[in-house]
Amino acid sequence: MKTKHLPIIQRALVTGGAGFVGSHLALALKTAYPDAEVAALDNLHRNGSELNLPRLEKGGVKFIKGDVRNPDDLAAFADADLLLECSADPSVLSGSDGDTSYLIQTNLQGALNCAEYCRERSAAMIFLSTSRVYPIKPLLECSMTETETRLVLDDAQAIPGLSKRGVSEAFPLDGPRSLYGGTKLAAEIMLEEYRNAFGLPFVINRCGVLAGPWQFGKADQGIAAFWTAAHHFGKPLKYIGFGGKGKQVRDMLHIDDLARLVLEQAANPADFAEGAFNVGGGLQSSASLLELTRICAKTTGREVPITPEPTTRYADIPIYITDNSKITAKCGWEPAKTVEDIIRDIHQWIINTPGTTELFS
Ligand SMILES: NC(=O)c1ccc[n+]([C@@H]2O[C@H](COP(=O)([O-])OP(=O)(O)OC[C@H]3O[C@@H](n4cnc5c(N)ncnc54)[C@H](O)[C@@H]3O)[C@@H](O)[C@H]2O)c1
Repeated sequence: MKTKHLPIIQRALVTGGAGFVGSHLALALKTAYPDAEVAALDNLHRNGSELNLPRLEKGGVKFIKGDVRNPDDLAAFADADLLLECSADPSVLSGSDGDTSYLIQTNLQGALNCAEYCRERSAAMIFLSTSRVYPIKPLLECSMTETETRLVLDDAQAIPGLSKRGVSEAFPLDGPRSLYGGTKLAAEIMLEEYRNAFGLPFVINRCGVLAGPWQFGKADQGIAAFWTAAHHFGKPLKYIGFGGKGKQVRDMLHIDDLARLVLEQAANPADFAEGAFNVGGGLQSSASLLELTRICAKTTGREVPITPEPTTRYADIPIYITDNSKITAKCGWEPAKTVEDIIRDIHQWIINTPGTTELFS
């Protein structure tokens, strides 16, 4: 895959630009387009995002303290030709305590404010959506086999859009998916309407688990960093849900692989402005929690106590693997890095970065 450097990007705004994904993408854009003005807008809601500010400054990305819930904050960065919408309250548990306001206002209203910003300026948008738009019930009902270390999707599946390669865009969308997934799907639907009504080049990537250095992982979001840090600092862990066996599976996409795709899309967004693309690590970059434990123990040289907690939590799913066929057919992109690469890079980052000790230990 060859990234085309078309001269269209002069000013890019990255919302949630101090977060894990936003900071990587802002820096990747600035590196690819050194003459462009790239700004990262963030309200620093996520604990740890402030540690990304020196990185952004060093990389020539301007930081704007602002909130996507407030259109005036977005307008403080005038006339972007590209907006990467990476702001969110990204936990699948968000809002489940009954306090849904921040989730909805940020993930849905914030995305709509970004859409309006783009409409007023005829700007392109790349929206970071999530595999969590897919509903839970069919994911619980898919045909699976339990092996010694993980759940495996069977060859034959009754559900459309599902195969042993994982979930494609043809997977049904009916049914509850979590409050978080609901805000992202609602935003997707509106972005598609903006695309259709106003001819805007809006790109939608439905991402599986994203992982890599500079992710301030918590138990409910950013599992690869959370698991690696727990091993490095010797903190106990839990296998929560699905009988407490640790056999639930996720694919993981290294942030560098995502950045490679987003640069390709940013160079020609109109070419990718169709439906949504599933984007993830795929089967070759997937692991169960048990397997993740083994990789983390090998990488960090440390084992930690892990307690089974059999009860399955709200919105949890036994397996998610991204079928990348559509995006690969579109532009040839596919993930290059493995789970082992991801854990090694996160571990090196934790060792070498002041501030991670206070955050994770
Ligand atoms: N990390 C993943 O595994 C993953 C997977 C699928 C999709 N996504 C999506 O990718 C995007 C980025 O996620 P991330 O992992 O970087 O999360 P993150 O929490 O690291 O980054 C999100 C950033 O948004 C900021 N933010 C929150 N509310 C805001 C507001 N009202 N105004 C301005 N900024 C605000 C936070 O401070 C944070 O810096 C999100 O849209 C998320 O839904 C992430």
